[in-house]
This record gives sequence, structure tokens and C-alpha cells, in this order.
Amino acid sequence: MRMVDVIMNKRNGKQLTEEEIRFFIEGYTEETIPDYQVSALLMAIYYKGMTEKETAVLTQAMVDSGDTIDLSPIVGSKVDKHSTGGVGDKTTFIVGPLVASVGVPVAKMSGRGLGHTGGTLDKLESIEGFKIEMTEQEFIDNVNKYKLAVAGQTGNLAPADKKLYALRDVTATVDSIPLIAGSIMSKKLASGADSIVLDVKTGSGAFMKSIENSEALAKEMVTIGKNLGRNTVAIISDMNQPLGFEIGNANEVKEAVEVLQGKKVNDLRELALALASHMTVLAKTFASYDEAYKVLEENLENRKAFEAFRSFVGAQGGDVSMIDDLTKLPSSKHQVEVKAETDGYVTAIDAESIGIAAMYLGAGRATKDDKINHGVGITLKKKIGDEIKAGEALAVLLSDTTSPTDSIEKVLNAYEISSNSLGEKTLIYKVIQ
Ligand code: URA
Repeated sequence: MRMVDVIMNKRNGKQLTEEEIRFFIEGYTEETIPDYQVSALLMAIYYKGMTEKETAVLTQAMVDSGDTIDLSPIVGSKVDKHSTGGVGDKTTFIVGPLVASVGVPVAKMSGRGLGHTGGTLDKLESIEGFKIEMTEQEFIDNVNKYKLAVAGQTGNLAPADKKLYALRDVTATVDSIPLIAGSIMSKKLASGADSIVLDVKTGSGAFMKSIENSEALAKEMVTIGKNLGRNTVAIISDMNQPLGFEIGNANEVKEAVEVLQGKKVNDLRELALALASHMTVLAKTFASYDEAYKVLEENLENRKAFEAFRSFVGAQGGDVSMIDDLTKLPSSKHQVEVKAETDGYVTAIDAESIGIAAMYLGAGRATKDDKINHGVGITLKKKIGDEIKAGEALAVLLSDTTSPTDSIEKVLNAYEISSNSLGEKTLIYKVIQ
């Protein structure tokens, strides 16, 4: 087989065969096919798209390019959750213990962030002593014992995706729905879960800005999951403003723990309950979403989920007293208010700008060797639909410097204030299953 023929077939709008797709994925992983030919094929895929069958084959070929994690020693049905990424998204810290609180095992492999704030692992490391390195056996033992463990990604998962993603980044071929769907699903499938719940974000702070594109991506991922034998459900949720009020690392852990302790942070609590309900239905613990939701909500009220989080933190070496007394978590040296300049109602908060402002404060990494400052971040004081008076605080910057001018400007510009209220934003637009 010649790569030039594969490129030509796709360029001419033909459906690629399984052999052709496997040929290019294997050849690219083994470096027998050069970047320039794969770039040409990616651009042809970008314009001509891929059928359902092609996308499933592409995804499976990327899974097969590396290691897969065997979760079979874990007792019970394993359900994973994946979010396409949003600002202030700390749902994992609520969803994990919630699902664990009804006995469904959560075996989470997570990454570090190269984003505005840290990733799940960085955020957890706000807790003194918390360790994410463990052997595969310790990971499995912890999940069997505590129903929840979070570990750093080990092994060589979907290396073909790693290479292709880097190439797409520099060839203007990232935003192709079959390529994104295959990329995300290949990593999820290699991680070994039986079923998957996806949180596809939509809006100004999301990878997908429009509901139509988010829905198309969600449908494509659900179809891949089903075609490859995993029950998959996707929620399309709003990212036209950050989720919850806290953006950073330690302050995000704090907000999540407060929800586990019963605090009603509307959007965050609601989304976590929705994701956990779908997960426990997929695990067949509950017969219906409504039944799952009711029990999980009770487990927030009666603190069973909070207890599950405490056990998990303790099991991974974390200082549980920081969870019991949240003032012990790392904090910033200063708190700087960002004040509104006009009266009105908040109609939009550009989540991406808030994320960048948090990164300027030190909450995220600009390059992979940067160190995260766990104590800094942003606390929003106003969200969409809220009334504001000139001089009132829109947000508080948790900063180690006294006048973080770049962040102040970024946060101020992120807020849109107008004389008419739009009311609250919808949180969950659709569920695709
Ligand atoms: N995230 C991924 O993992 N892959 C993509 O292609 C886009 C977002």
C-alpha cells in the first residue's frame, strides 16, 4: 500500500478501508510515514469528513497503537467521566465520591494541566501529602477498597493520538469533528472503563463555541463508544461563564468540598449530580436517572459522599485535616477586589479570559515546566443574571502580589454588564444517548 493512494482516495471523497486507516496509523506511529504525507491526509479528512465506520476504525487503531489498561481486577462495572474542558470545572472532586458513595468503582487516570489552571492532579496536590504516583496494583487495591482512586496517567496510552494531535495543532486541522471525537475517545477507551459519561462543554469558554458543533461532537463520540462496545452518554453543558465561583487550584478543591458538605452552589452541584446520575445508571446501580438523582442528592445531604472523599484523600496520603478545616488549604498573600464601573446586570462572563487572568496570577502553566502556585486564583462574586452596582466587587483576585494589573484588566473586560437582565443561563442543554 502507498500512502499517496490513501491521501488521493480521501481527497476524492472515498471512504477509506480499515486496511488503509490501520496502514496510516501504524506507519505514522512507527515513523515510516512522514509528517508531510500525514498532514495532507489530515487536511483531506478535514474537508471530506469521515463516516461512522471510518471514525470507529480510526479510534480503535489509535487505541491499538499503545498500551491499554486492564481494569478487570476491579470488582463491579467501571464507569469513567470525561469533560472536554472548562474554566472552574471541579466536578470530578464531587462526582467521584458521589458515585463511590453508592458502591460504583471510580478508577480515574488523570493528567496535569497545560491550561489556565492546573489539571485534576495539580488541584489535588493542594492537599498536603497527597500522592498520585502509585503502582498499578496499589491503584487497583485502592479502588476495590475505597471505590475511588485517582492516579497520574501511566503507560503509553494511544501514542498515535499524541503524535497526530501535535501535528494537527500546527496544520490547522484540530477542529475536525471526527478527528476530535476519535482523539478523545481513543484515550478513554485505552483507559479501560466499561462505560463512559462525557461532559461536552459549549459556549465562549469551551472548545466548541456553538450548541450545533457541541451536539455534533457529542453525537460522534457517543456513536464511537457504542460502535466499540462501551455504553456512552454525553451531556452538553454551558461554558458561557465559569462553573461555580472559584477558579484556581486549592480554592477549587475548597468549593468542591463545600458542595460535598451540603453547600448549594447551584450550577456546580447540579452538573455534578447530573453526571453522577448518568454514571450510576450506566453502572446499572439504578434503574432510572430520577431514582439515581434522588439517592445521590441524599448522599450529599447525609455526607456519605463527603466521607467517601475523606477516605480517598487519606488513602492517597493526603492530610485529611485540611478537608475538615478548609482554612488549612494553601491561600494567597493578598485579596484584591475587581470592582464594577457601572450599574446593571451581568449578561456574560468570558470564561476563557477569567482562566487567563487566573494563569497570570500563577494558577496555571504557560509551559510544561512551570510550577503551579496552589494558593492563588479568582473568586467570582457575581455571575450571569446578578445585579451589580458601580463600585461593588465583581470578583476577588487571590494574588501573591498587591496589584496584579494584567489580571484585574482581564477580569474587568471579561464581564459584560448591561441595563437589562438576561436571567440565568441554561446549564444542561441536551443529553445524547
Ligand atoms: N482534546 C483532545 O484530546 N483531542 C482533540 O482533538 C481535541 C481536544
